[in-house]
Amino acid sequence: MSDPYERSAEYLDIMIAEAWEPLAPALTDVLSRVRAETGAVVDLGAGSGRGVRVICDALPQAPVLAVEPSAAMRAVLLARVHEDDRLRGRVTVLPGDCASADWPDGVRAVVALNVIGHLPPGERRVLWSRAARQLAPGGVLVFNVTRPYAPVEVERVRMARVVIGELEYEGWASARPTGPDEVTWRMDYRVLRRGEPVGGTSVQYRWWVATVEELAAEAAGAGLRLGAAGDPGLGLCVVEHAKEAPTSNS
Ligand SMILES: C[S@@+](CC[C@H](N)C(=O)[O-])C[C@H]1O[C@@H](n2cnc3c(N)ncnc32)[C@H](O)[C@@H]1O
Repeated sequence: MSDPYERSAEYLDIMIAEAWEPLAPALTDVLSRVRAETGAVVDLGAGSGRGVRVICDALPQAPVLAVEPSAAMRAVLLARVHEDDRLRGRVTVLPGDCASADWPDGVRAVVALNVIGHLPPGERRVLWSRAARQLAPGGVLVFNVTRPYAPVEVERVRMARVVIGELEYEGWASARPTGPDEVTWRMDYRVLRRGEPVGGTSVQYRWWVATVEELAAEAAGAGLRLGAAGDPGLGLCVVEHAKEAPTSNS
């Protein structure tokens, strides 16, 4: 399978930084309420490691398994983990994806932020069953659901702009429907110097869409209950065993 992040990894960390400003405290809050007190935390599609850093701060004793399929993204992730003594001792970076990653039974949390749309429905269902089987009692699976929730056109919009040194980096996103439950995102990254383009790249990838209600029904089929957490605008979902008391604020 080709890696849609191979060329965009250069820009991903700086472009996603702003999205993490509200996500980080919301994830911290969810993790601080997890009732499971032992076990590792798995970060699926850990990307450049922004989530890993939040997990390590929120749960200072937990080992973290950071699963990331893209070698280019892993380079950024490994650099982030290696540079910080608090991360280096307990974050294990694993090549792999949701389907192939090997994680142990009894994990206290699985985090999959800005990732769920990468999973075709079949892989999503495998994730629900693995969560049902492998979460510790009181453990949670945390993910977010972002627009669009149906296969519709998304007009091109600038999603991020960052200035570093003399250069300005912009990320532009648009999507078109390409199936009954999927869109294809086109991401254009531009690098400008005094307003003139000096670099950049464009990538496209498939993204499977669903509403929170549809995902809740799928999760319920695996014996899990889905609740919302944090500011509704974040689309943060917390999934746990249906027979346990909820920890989310839905
Ligand atoms: C938009 S980035 C988000 C990265 C990180 N979770 C964050 O929020 O900063 C999506 C990440 O998911 C990874 N990914 C893509 N398909 C995946 C799959 N099937 N299983 C796990 N990760 C996947 C990509 O390589 C990429 O690093």
